[in-house]
Amino acid sequence: MASWKAILGSPTFLGLAISVVVVSIVVQLSDRKSPESRLWTVDEVAKYNGTDDQLPILLGILGSVFDVTKGRQHYGPGGGYHHFAGRDASCAFVSGNFTGDGLTDSLQGLSSAQMKSVVDWRDFYFRSYKHVGTLVGRYYDSHGQPTKYLKGVEAKAARGAQLMKKQESEEAKVPSCNSRWSQDDGGKVWCDTGYPRLVQRPQEIALTGRMSKRCACFKEEELSRPGLEVYKGCDYLSNSCMV
Ligand code: HEM
Ligand SMILES: *[C@@H]1O[C@H](CO)[C@@H](O)[C@H](O)[C@H]1NC(C)=O
Ligand SMILES: *[C@@H]1O[C@H](CO)[C@@H](O)[C@H](O)[C@H]1NC(C)=O
Repeated sequence: MASWKAILGSPTFLGLAISVVVVSIVVQLSDRKSPESRLWTVDEVAKYNGTDDQLPILLGILGSVFDVTKGRQHYGPGGGYHHFAGRDASCAFVSGNFTGDGLTDSLQGLSSAQMKSVVDWRDFYFRSYKHVGTLVGRYYDSHGQPTKYLKGVEAKAARGAQLMKKQESEEAKVPSCNSRWSQDDGGKVWCDTGYPRLVQRPQEIALTGRMSKRCACFKEEELSRPGLEVYKGCDYLSNSCMV
């Protein structure tokens, strides 16, 4: 008869014991890792804002909820994007306003291109993090069905994508200015062929104030087109302008 010592020391027993330990560790880790996919309320999601480091960190965007725990350096306390944790602050993904009412899930007043940008952020979360369910409220109803509001946002975003594509092909017809900035001279724009002009982009495309105008190089016969702005202090037929 085999002694207990022989059984405990046998390779079969050791292998079994190690497997049990490994499996239980893996199960525990994955338990802690992500909640089951389900419907969430605003109050439930708020608990997962990263302040309790025993809990996962959740983030909502357009009503989709993601486990962003692996991005704790961004979303945890002290992280630059902590304000996105434990809530749906869809609007702040384009406004960049992480304070007070800026942290809203309402996209009221945003352009179609801005809505496209929020949808792109949601795509980013689907690619980068685990989807753990749906937030009941503005974007999904209590059955987890998309609301009219979400469908409206997605339709407007699709129009925004079309407009941006069209704008891109329009802009490709006129070359952009060269530009340089130096401590001594400040900013300079210039054209190798043609003359620098500022062109206002359509309001729908201008994602931020900075993006609202573009410098492009126009040939002499094109200079009478409407909407072309000569740089302040720059001659009508100068190839380069200080900005
Ligand atoms: C509307 C304004 C902005 C929004 C909504 C925003 C949003 C975000 C978010 C959500 C992340 C985390 C992505 C992840 O989970 O991996 C991130 C990362 C980052 N952002 Fe921003 N951001 C903004 C502006 C800026 C600006 C102006 C800068 C720099 C001047 C910047 C630099 C960075 C950097 C360096 C990272 C870290 C990338 C990494 O470590 O993987 N962001 N941003
Ligand atoms: C995060 O959640 C905790 C617990 O619900 C709460 O006490 C705390 O105020 C929240 N922090 C932020 C920044 O919302
Ligand atoms: C952010 O939004 C709030 C509320 O809409 C507003 O009062 C505040 O001035 C905004 N801050 C910035 C920096 O735009």
